[in-house]
Amino acid sequence: MSTSILRPVLCISYLVTLDISSNFIQGQIPGDGFVSLTSFISLDMSDDSFNGSIPPELFSLKTLQRLDLSRNVIGGTLSGDIKELKNLQELILYENFIEGEIPPEIGSLAKLRTLTLRPNMFSGSKPLSVSQLTKLETFDLQNNSLSFEIPDSIEKLVNLSTLFFEHEQVIWWNFRI
Ligand SMILES: *[C@@H]1O[C@H](CO)[C@@H](O)[C@H](O)[C@H]1NC(C)=O
Repeated sequence: MSTSILRPVLCISYLVTLDISSNFIQGQIPGDGFVSLTSFISLDMSDDSFNGSIPPELFSLKTLQRLDLSRNVIGGTLSGDIKELKNLQELILYENFIEGEIPPEIGSLAKLRTLTLRPNMFSGSKPLSVSQLTKLETFDLQNNSLSFEIPDSIEKLVNLSTLFFEHEQVIWWNFRI
């Protein structure tokens, strides 16, 4: 199914939630379609076949709390403009092909509860500064090509219950029962 089926839906400017998961939609995310959604809170585009990179327009959705792009074939890099999504609580990019460094700007998303970047092709050796992510409960970076160690600032994450991380050997922590 082509992404053009989304066009009429995205014209509803007061749209708050959109779940188009598992619809066999193929092609690039039609970024320009999202610019008028000024009260948008939740976008679930998981289990489709979106490709290309994440369009910059998605980073203008300042009200967005949940972005789930899991299980697509999205590539490219993740822009530092992600910092514009100041209300983001869940960023789920599970199973895609996103490469390059994890933008340090992610560390400024103070409302994040879930950050799932596994598995992708993120690389880099600079540890992510997470000291501002005090609401984070799930932090999953496993199955990437990261070569940094667990950042020291992890001790600031008082709400963290699940951490998947990998450095030479797989480390899996599940703090709470
Ligand atoms: C994305 O998918 C569409 C539709 O299947 C295809 O025409 C296009 O070539 C693909 N683009 C990339 C970058 O893979």
